[in-house]
Amino acid sequence: MTAPILRRLDGLRTRTAAWRRAGETIAVVPTMGALHAGHLSLVEAAKAACDRVIVTIFVNPKQFNNAEDLANYPRTEHEDAAKLAPYGVDAIYVPDPDQIYPDGFASTVAVTGSITDVMEGPFRPGHFEGVATVVAKLFLQTSADKAFFGQKDYQQLMVVTRMARDLDIPIEVVGCPTVREASGLAMSSRNLRLSEAALTQAAVLYATMQTAATGAAQGEPWSALEAEARRALAAAGFGEVEYFDLRCAESLKALDYPDRPARLLAAAWLGDIRLIDNIEVAQVQR
Ligand code: PAF
Repeated sequence: MTAPILRRLDGLRTRTAAWRRAGETIAVVPTMGALHAGHLSLVEAAKAACDRVIVTIFVNPKQFNNAEDLANYPRTEHEDAAKLAPYGVDAIYVPDPDQIYPDGFASTVAVTGSITDVMEGPFRPGHFEGVATVVAKLFLQTSADKAFFGQKDYQQLMVVTRMARDLDIPIEVVGCPTVREASGLAMSSRNLRLSEAALTQAAVLYATMQTAATGAAQGEPWSALEAEARRALAAAGFGEVEYFDLRCAESLKALDYPDRPARLLAAAWLGDIRLIDNIEVAQVQR
């Protein structure tokens, strides 16, 4: 059954209030649309966890640091609603822009410090403020009990978790595993812009990350593994590799060895598409 598409906050609130009165729990899956199997896995997790599920679709201009990326971002509302139909979600909230940023809107939610000072933070100025601001609004507008995000955007997951905790928003942020193509490429709405050939090339990023993660888990120093990975990516036709880092999974501090829970996080350009990905790295005793 196709879920109702709600474009105004008052309509959303009427429904959530009725669900609350009936003692039902609410999950939200925030998205920017162009839904793929990764998003649908979040919807499944949300359905399993709560009585009611709201999927939000809003291409948030404040989190794009690049006007061209915003203009080219896929907008596929009709297809998105069709993809959601088999899941029986309770509402698709596609807010009109003024429901998120009314005239005179002047507030920003900024998560500062070690989790935003690195990687995506410096490479995408203003991005995390845009994410934290819109996600804070979506949490408050939906009054959900749980929110589901992909681990593909690992730093984003940390930012929204910190933001909800810092602002006492009573919501549990749940991170779900990255869903990959058979080639290993992490699913992303931006993949829609990759040609057949570029899709094959893009899979080299994950393969290179796995090789480096295996080396790290065998005790090889990160500096050598990173240099080798950068060479492999250049040879495969990648442009700039913005970062290819081994970091503590909790503090995001750079590591030479995975001597605590660690992740490998990378961002690299393939033609005019920027790919990001991350994987867990097995811990070594030192
Ligand atoms: O991950 C995304 O799609 C977006 O950053 C989010 C969380 C929906 C906020 O606009």
